[in-house]
Amino acid sequence: MSEEDGKAVVRGLRDVAAAESRISYVDPNGALYYLGYNIDDLVERVTYSEVAYLLVHQKLPNQQELDKFRIELVSEMKLPDPIVESIKAASLNCPPMDVLRTEVSHLGEYDPEGRDFSAAANTRRASRLIAQLPTMVATLYRSRRYQPILAPRRKFDFAQNFLYMLKGAIPNEKETKVMQRFMVLHADHGFNASTFAARVTASTNSDMYSAVTSAIGTLKGPLHGGASEKVMEMLDDIYLEEEVEEYVQGLLDDKKKIMGFGHRVYKAQDPRTKHLRGIVEDFCHSFRTSDLYDKCKMIENVVYERKKIYPNVDFYAAVAMDALGISKEFFPLFFASSRISGWVAHVLEQYEDAVLLRPSSKYVGEFGRPFIPLENR
Ligand code: ACO
Repeated sequence: MSEEDGKAVVRGLRDVAAAESRISYVDPNGALYYLGYNIDDLVERVTYSEVAYLLVHQKLPNQQELDKFRIELVSEMKLPDPIVESIKAASLNCPPMDVLRTEVSHLGEYDPEGRDFSAAANTRRASRLIAQLPTMVATLYRSRRYQPILAPRRKFDFAQNFLYMLKGAIPNEKETKVMQRFMVLHADHGFNASTFAARVTASTNSDMYSAVTSAIGTLKGPLHGGASEKVMEMLDDIYLEEEVEEYVQGLLDDKKKIMGFGHRVYKAQDPRTKHLRGIVEDFCHSFRTSDLYDKCKMIENVVYERKKIYPNVDFYAAVAMDALGISKEFFPLFFASSRISGWVAHVLEQYEDAVLLRPSSKYVGEFGRPFIPLENR
């Protein structure tokens, strides 16, 4: 931190509290709370729909509220036809996360409530985005494989519908459980970079689609949600377990970051890791997952030995998504499909707080430079 010019610079905004929030608490000692509930108490016991309701409405639903919310979500999953056509027309060269970012922005054009920005309309808009974003991902996934686009089924829960619409097969009990847990664990995480980006956009009283577009653009970076794709590249790069030590040391010697490791807030283990590791263990009957899992365990040990840092959410999440049969360029989109509930909850909270998020900077440039006309430069 430097104090010159009367201004304190906190590089990377490390440990700066930019606002008060009731939504989630990231405890540096290795715990995560959604509205006061420890995720360890939620993860095995709730569906993603319950968590999405909790984040948006700030309370766990009773059965009646949950039934109503599920119906709301499934009926909102359908996308406007021009959005489906636009997703299908996206260039195959365009990374999927870029298509998602563009199409969420595009979706704003078709909002049925137009320019009604009342609190009630925004709460309905939040549910619509929670419902529609996974449909966009499934539509893109299938259109890239020249497969027919599927409609959600009313009898399925939300997370189950997402996997069904993406893969085209009815998920079995184990896949459904894994999907629920994955989505619950990714739903929110304090003032992470993408959530903060969404809140900055919302703080100007801009609309929710713009805020979510900012969030997606921020999530895609490899230091944030884009890390999971890089984790899989690393795992595919390491052919044999015996190569792990040399590979990791090589990255450290080259001063490169090991993807899926380290965290800005946690000083202890990321509390989501143990659950994601458990998810992966559930799939270890398959040769590929078991091989990836063994490599992960070795990497985890070597990195801890050398750098004393732990895996973050993206490390085992990559293997979990691979085990579900998702291709790696879609990993960040899977993340976004769950984090959307946190983003919109934070946007609603930011609208309530109604303050412009606008930090300052410490100017370190020059003053008084003599102006030289164009013809003399
Ligand atoms: N590999 C190697 N060393 C690391 C890593 C890593 N992944 N992460 C942190 N370190 C080291 C740093 O080099 C530094 O060491 P030093 O003190 O010897 O110089 C120390 O740990 C502190 O690291 P910072 O860079 O100060 O940590 P910061 O809080 O700025 O960065 C971040 C956090 C961006 C997550 C970082 O750990 C990283 O780049 N990780 C890899 C990318 C990744 O997995 N991102 C996903 C994060 S979780 C999420 O967003 C969903």
